[in-house]
Amino acid sequence: MNYQTVLDDIANRLAPLLGTEGRVADYIPALARVPVRQFGIALRTRDGVEAAAGDFDTPFSIQSISKLFSLTLALRRLDDALWQRIGREPSGNPFNSLVQLETEHGVPRNPFINAGAIAVADRLLALGLGKHDVLAFAGHLCGEAIAFDAEVAASEAATGFRNLALANFMKSFGKLDHAVADVLDVYFHQCSIAMTCRQLARAAGYLCRDGAHPLGGGFDAVINERQARRINALMLTCGTYDAAGEFAFCIGLPCKSGVGGGIVAVVPDTLTLCVWSPALDATGNSAIGRRALELFTAQTGLSVF
Ligand code: DON
Repeated sequence: MNYQTVLDDIANRLAPLLGTEGRVADYIPALARVPVRQFGIALRTRDGVEAAAGDFDTPFSIQSISKLFSLTLALRRLDDALWQRIGREPSGNPFNSLVQLETEHGVPRNPFINAGAIAVADRLLALGLGKHDVLAFAGHLCGEAIAFDAEVAASEAATGFRNLALANFMKSFGKLDHAVADVLDVYFHQCSIAMTCRQLARAAGYLCRDGAHPLGGGFDAVINERQARRINALMLTCGTYDAAGEFAFCIGLPCKSGVGGGIVAVVPDTLTLCVWSPALDATGNSAIGRRALELFTAQTGLSVF
């Protein structure tokens, strides 16, 4: 398959739609300033073939895509012990919802909603790891130095009242071991990491390689095959929040989105893909990114189903 032709075609088809659908994430002031008429797409096959189109080399705020890296980091050290604090069920609610935490005694439904990622950050601190380890891990996976966006981290720390509420709520149930401020410092910084579509398509590659390092070579495995399969299952069922059913229905791939407008998708055993366009739909997923993934699976026939 000529992936470059497929990606060029998708970028050309979507260009007229840029700026016509969705809204940037204005609840984080630093993200509200991102120009909306941008679109990038990049993929890397399990054998290392790459293709990309549009603004694929423009860094953007990875936001909740970072939950993939923090989960992987925690899982490879804790394995099944991680699930004592975090569930594995789709929430069917918005990513920042508080409602289920009350009836479920401070145990988040899954590691991809905000409450779940905050619980993962607490587990990282318990392992002696922190924000710099998440950053270094993402850099190790894509093979390039990457950085936090200090402005985005500060912007979110100044306005993240809901995340503060979620963390305090979990703390009140005895489900966070560390100080709320320390846990949120990890969480806000991991969300502020800036990466390009090409870097994310590379970094996620272990998910299409049964846990082997995305760049192959002499690198150790990132996680084992069983763990990689389970992360893919969680991405399919929980990675796009209350749109996960629609994503499975229309796209049929494990996906993880972020409110910076990025979406990472996995075709197990075949390739990883990253799309980016900043305007979001009502569920906090990139509106044009979602269209791009629909076009990609329609044109290539690739799906887990
Ligand atoms: O905590 C927040 O609200 C953001 N830092 C991340 C949310 C996010 O990316 C949800 N994804 N679609």
